[in-house]
Formats: sequence, C-alpha cells, structure tokens
Amino acid sequence: MEIKNSKSRELWLSKAGFILAAAGSAIGLGNLWRFPYVTGMYGGGAFVLVYLLSIIAIGIPIMVAEFIIGRRTQRNPVGAFGKLGKTKGWQLVGWLGLATGFILLSYYSVVGGWILDYVLKSAGGLFHGKSPAEINQMFDMVLKSPLRQVFFHALFLFLVTYIVSRGIHKGIELWNKILMPLLFGILLLLMVNSLFSPGVREGMRFLFYPDFSKITATAILEAMGQAFFPLSIGLGTMITYGSYLKRDVSLMNSATEICVLDTLVALVAGIVIFPIVFTYGLAPSAGPGLFFKTLPVVFSVLPGGRIIAFLFFLVVAFAALTSAISLLELVVAYFIDERKWGRKKAAIIMGLTIFIFGVPSALSFNTLRDITLIKGINIFNFLDLLVTNYMLPAGGLLIAIFCGWFLSRKESLDEIRKGGNDLFFYRVWRFIIRYIAPVAVLLVFSWKAGVIAL
Ligand code: PHE
Repeated sequence: MEIKNSKSRELWLSKAGFILAAAGSAIGLGNLWRFPYVTGMYGGGAFVLVYLLSIIAIGIPIMVAEFIIGRRTQRNPVGAFGKLGKTKGWQLVGWLGLATGFILLSYYSVVGGWILDYVLKSAGGLFHGKSPAEINQMFDMVLKSPLRQVFFHALFLFLVTYIVSRGIHKGIELWNKILMPLLFGILLLLMVNSLFSPGVREGMRFLFYPDFSKITATAILEAMGQAFFPLSIGLGTMITYGSYLKRDVSLMNSATEICVLDTLVALVAGIVIFPIVFTYGLAPSAGPGLFFKTLPVVFSVLPGGRIIAFLFFLVVAFAALTSAISLLELVVAYFIDERKWGRKKAAIIMGLTIFIFGVPSALSFNTLRDITLIKGINIFNFLDLLVTNYMLPAGGLLIAIFCGWFLSRKESLDEIRKGGNDLFFYRVWRFIIRYIAPVAVLLVFSWKAGVIAL
C-alpha cells in the first residue's frame, strides 16, 4: 500500500521505519569513535551527566524544531524556509544546511571507505598473527595509497547513492529497517563479550567514574558542542526526514526516542571498546588511531578475535552508511522538490559530484599531504573543523531562532498538537527553543570560534 500525500510525496510507511531511519542518521561515527573517548577524557560519568543535560537543553528541542519545519512544509530545507520564512533571507539557512550536508558527506565518505576496507581486511582475517607494528603499518599503508583511498571512497558513495536512488520506501526505510536492528544486535553481542573481559573494571571506570574535578568550563562546552554532530542536527537532515512524516506522529516523543537510542549506542560503544583496550594495557586514543590501530591489535590476540573484528567493523560500516544516506537525501531532496528532477537522476548526479568533491580529502593523506589550509591542517581535517565547529552550530542556532521567534505560535503549536502532546510540553519546548538553546549554542559557538577563551 502506498501512502502518499496530494503531491505524491512518499511518506514513511510506519512510525518504526521513521524512527529507525532518523536513529540511523544520528547513530554514526560521532557516537562510535568520538563520544566514548571524549567522555573518558573529560571525567567519565560527570561528563555523561553534562552531555545528557545538553541533549535535553539543545538536542531534543532543536530536533523537534527541525521536525516541525519539515512536516509543516513537506519540503527540503531550502524549500521549507522559503515557504515558512516571510522574507527571502531565511532561505539562506536552508542553503547553509545543504552546503553543510554536501561538504560533510564528501569527507565522511572517505572514512566510510576506510571502514569498508577494514570490513574486508577483517573478513579475510588479515590482522591475525600480526605484530602491533605490522598492524599499525597496515593503516599507514591505507592512508598512503591514493588509489585505494579513492576506490573505497567511491565504493562507499556508490552504496549510499544506490540506496537513496531507490526512494524512501524501497531504499532508505527498507535499508534502515535491515541495518539498524542488525547493528543493535551485533553491538549487544560485542558488549556481552567485553563485559567478560578482564579489563572490564578499568574500562568502566574510564568511561563512567564521575570525576567532577574534570568538569571544567571547557568540558561543559565540549559536551554542549557534542550535541550537534552525533544527533545529525543543525543542517536540516531532520527537516528532510520530518518532511516524509505522517501527520499523526508525535514529534516530541519521536525526538526523545531518537536521542535516547543515540545516547545508548554511544554508551554501549564505550562499554564495547574500553574494557578490551584496557585488558591489553593499551592507551585509549581518539578516532582513527583507536579504530584502525589500537583495536585491530587487540582483535589480533583476542580469543575469537577474527570474528569479533569482522562484526565490529560491520557495525561501524552500517552506522556510517545509514548516516551518509541521510546526508545524500538532504541534498537530493532539494533537487527533487525545487528543480523537479527525478530521484534517480538527482541521486546519481549528486552522488557523483560529492564523490569528486571528496577526492581531495581522500588524497589529503598522500598526494595532497603538503597542502595545508590553516595552521598545518590538511584538507580533510580542515573541512571537518569547518563543519563541526562552525557550520553545524551556526545552522542549529538559526533553526532555533527561526522556530522560537519567527514561526508563529499557532503554527508550531498546531504541529505539536497533531501528535497528541499537551500544552505543558509545548510550553517547556517553546521556552527552551526561545531562550535556553540559542544562548547555549551561542556560548559553544563563540568558544569554538575563539571569541571566548577558557
Ligand atoms: N550523526 C552522524 C554521526 O554521528 C553524523 C551526521 C551528522 C549525519 C549530520 C548526518 C547529519 O556520525
């Protein structure tokens, strides 16, 4: 049965499909490799508390705001702001979101490529019996080889483009319904495995022990800044996904469920990773180092390490794919809605364009290594800095201001009422989106931009 609205826009078939797709967008590398590490660094349990507060003060309210804008207009971000904003200027927020999604996907897909590479490596049991030095070298080889980088970057984007080109039902919803439950299942298995490893006490301590002395102003701002990337907010992916949502679904409950899932996965990822890292007395490190050097060393000696390595990289690949899908959909939806392109054409052309745009990032560890943009930062890291520190918070701020101050109370209340939430929750949300969220984001933003130094 096809559920369509008057202009035959595909809508999510079920609420579960929507929640899985939005959680699929949110759950990604942000949760799996950044969150656990940052948590450990900034005081474990105490940081988790601050993070939870920022999800309530920034994350959930902005996600609700994006859903309101999306469902109200049934449009991509550019079209949505064009329709709701009384002046043309607001459309720029949509454009900013589109640009953010485009740039983000171009380098996210390079990392997605490394992960696919590692899924294959682990499937072939390549870490087994190798020394730590040999394993470290493997990742250096990946980074150093331009062809390999470009090939896997292309493969990752090919998969993403294929799924997006199939449409909301047969592509995005279907694949999220398959990949997300698999991700949850495998992650739980890996967690049980970790809980039985000897390093479990130390690992849990690193992650959860509330060391309030580490809760400095920097830690608080870091926690607040963490609210954007892992939740996929601030650029309009949730406007886009919200635009395919049926009228009777509660936006507040949905945003809460998605944020809870996202946070749980981040915590479970920490529980999977740190006990085994500590079991082998290795130093916990961040990002690429942890995933492609430290963990494979552990896997190479762990009992059952071959299969665990494979399952682990599979989970990461699923998480990265479902996030990347939402990024491409954000861009593609614009061309479908506003330029009247067919979905296949939009997906293929944009997939290709983003691939080409991402090639310099793929080459920024080898051929283009010497090109540094600012302060010795290569192209890949520069784009990441630009997106996470500036574009996402700026977008989030503008979305909050728009929804809180420019969208009429009647319009936002109407969307909230449709899902059956009562006036009390609406009032709390409106207060947060008007006052708390903008101030919090401004603080983070000025700190990241160096306006306030700590
Ligand atoms: N939330 C994703 C992650 O944690 C990244 C992402 C950001 C995806 C913004 C879509 C939009 O990896």
